[in-house]
Amino acid sequence: MSLKLEDVTYTHSPGTAYEMHALEHINLEIPNGQFVGIIGHTGSGKSTLVQHLNGLIRPTAGRVLYNGEDIWKEGYPLRELRSHVGLVFQYPEHQLFETDVITDVCFGPKNQGLSPEECRKRAEEALDHVGFPKEMYEKSPFELSGGQKRRVAIAGVLAMNPDFLVLDEPTNDLDMDTLDLLQEVLMEYDGTILLVSHDRDFIDRVVTSVIYMPGDGSVTEHAGSYSELLEKLRGKPAAKEDKKTAAAKSIAKATVSGNAKTAKLSYKQQCLLEVLPQEIEKLEAEIAAIEEELGNPDLYTADPDKFDALSSRLNEAQQEKDDAENQWLEIQMLKEELEKTD
Ligand SMILES: Nc1ncnc2c1ncn2[C@@H]1O[C@H](COP(=O)(O)OP(=O)(O)OP(=O)(O)O)[C@@H](O)[C@H]1O
Ligand SMILES: [Mg+2]
Repeated sequence: MSLKLEDVTYTHSPGTAYEMHALEHINLEIPNGQFVGIIGHTGSGKSTLVQHLNGLIRPTAGRVLYNGEDIWKEGYPLRELRSHVGLVFQYPEHQLFETDVITDVCFGPKNQGLSPEECRKRAEEALDHVGFPKEMYEKSPFELSGGQKRRVAIAGVLAMNPDFLVLDEPTNDLDMDTLDLLQEVLMEYDGTILLVSHDRDFIDRVVTSVIYMPGDGSVTEHAGSYSELLEKLRGKPAAKEDKKTAAAKSIAKATVSGNAKTAKLSYKQQCLLEVLPQEIEKLEAEIAAIEEELGNPDLYTADPDKFDALSSRLNEAQQEKDDAENQWLEIQMLKEELEKTD
């Protein structure tokens, strides 16, 4: 089994005011049997990338190859491809369409030609895997809460047992228990998994390698976890002299090349590169302290207001830390890119 992008470029809304070059000359082979995390800022092209993998969108240029065959050649069985490469959409509303939950989850296995009994068995197993209650099987997917819709959408793809399981932000609006369930199911999954997520902790718990999308239409691959990638970059020793020289070189290069894609590090970016690690450390210390306080089992009964305030600050601090890390990572990658091409 192999899945490959060959020099893929994708432009959204070409020739209009909304034209957007989301992917540029991407070459990528999805490593078989691996658990790959896809990370990157909002709008960096993650969803555009994964929608290419099951032929949901067609590259503006370049080819998508499944087992060496161009999936856009005439007569290629795209429907069959979609049962080998299952995609859980970023927005469950875009995926669910049947009149009730169980029929929706049976849709994939039915298309695979399985018997009604087998479809039902697969659907029930998949719904069970994401903690969806039996008594709600007959409900319309549109009456469900956000978290329940998300579970049904994940189950719909799990039920097909695809060779490549692609999940676009599946952890949004899932509670901790469902996250644990999902983690278990994914860890035991036999096929290759690609997981788009902003949830660094979740990614760290499960992936074997990371694809980073810096937001300029390119991708960078890293073996290891998201945190390792951050640590590696953050811990990189760089003497003051070197930093200055590198920044000067970057500026000179960007000016000479005149390439709009080769942004130079601005003064603000250079400052952020120094300041953000300290900010992240502070936030990490704050998070650890709050977690310790919240770890006290008597706190909730003794002082519920404090418990609420601490919980909400914990969420904020985690979000601030994620944002700072993403921002730092983006600038660092840009810096590395500029140094590499010197
Ligand atoms: N139909 C469209 N027309 C024009 N631009 C689009 C369209 N769809 C997406 N884009 C743009 O293409 C870029 C990549 O979008 P994409 O949805 O792939 O990003 P993403 O990394 O998945 O973002 P998010 O983290 O918000 O899910 C973004 O700048 C987005 O605004
Ligand atoms: Mg997206």
